[in-house]
Amino acid sequence: MLKSLFAVAACALALTSTSTQDAQAGAPILIKFSHVVADGTPKGQGALLFKKLAEERLPGQVRVEVYSNSSLYGDADELQALRNGEVQLLAPSLAKFEQYTRQLQVFDLPFLFDDLEAVNRFQKRAKGRQLLRSMEQQNIVGLAYWHNGMKQLSATRALRLPTDAAGLSFRIQASTVLEAQFAQLGASPRKLAFAEVFKALQSGQVQGAENPWSNLYSQRLHSVQPYITETNHGVLDYMLVSNPRFWYGLPHSVRVELETIIDEVSLAVNLQAETLNRADRERILASGSSQLIGLSAEERAAWRSAMRPVWQQFEAAIGADVLKAAQAVNRQPRD
Ligand code: LMR
Repeated sequence: MLKSLFAVAACALALTSTSTQDAQAGAPILIKFSHVVADGTPKGQGALLFKKLAEERLPGQVRVEVYSNSSLYGDADELQALRNGEVQLLAPSLAKFEQYTRQLQVFDLPFLFDDLEAVNRFQKRAKGRQLLRSMEQQNIVGLAYWHNGMKQLSATRALRLPTDAAGLSFRIQASTVLEAQFAQLGASPRKLAFAEVFKALQSGQVQGAENPWSNLYSQRLHSVQPYITETNHGVLDYMLVSNPRFWYGLPHSVRVELETIIDEVSLAVNLQAETLNRADRERILASGSSQLIGLSAEERAAWRSAMRPVWQQFEAAIGADVLKAAQAVNRQPRD
């Protein structure tokens, strides 16, 4: 009760400060963009490019402050801060919207998308576009999808077959799909905020994790993970989101320009994400800290059939229509 009163008070405060801003002719609109990763990652670069273009093209009208590495808000509180109007832009990974819509869980299903190009096709088609609007009732509007990349499994022991993961503890994002995925392997999933991952691996609180190369490298996770298996078993992408009251309350000309900028930035992020991840993969290999394990077609098939039962578990919550649309984007149609 007390908590919801605080939320209402925070909303009122946010609304007051927005209208005060509008009233002060000439005061630039402040956009706080908070995220949890490093500047050198696809999302980090996207946030900085957004700031640059917005301030260049809307001088004196818009000011953007970027807070990286969970320096303003972290996984636990960033979405609530957005809904309360305390921050105006976020780009959480798609796994982190679970409490606002179950439909986005489709992105966490293991071995659903063959590669980032397939993910891209899904995001561009009607069903993917619709999902951007699936949380408006919850005060969250999706503006774009941003790629990071496909996830790899890392651990303190070599993971060649799914049975190798049994008994290990893996850090996961706050997603019940990912929880079920590791449970299928006989492993123990542990939900932890991104900012806690390095310490949890270093201290041995967990022994493994799943990340794209850019997150592995920028957080130095490889330095405490002697084995990395190139599974590409799932995707880690983002939704750029705002608070609809803020977004639709912007002066029309400002919003239109910001939407144009977002289109350009999204294109740049999505074109560069794979290159950035490939470069970080090379850096990790060059560091010599971890042994890279490649999978044969048979080994990959074994991982796929171990994790695949998760789809059935979540199909009803996600929606059969969404799952069907996602399955249609691979070049090789799937069962
Ligand atoms: C994670 O928690 O592993 C990722 O969602 C972090 C990020 O934003 O890439």
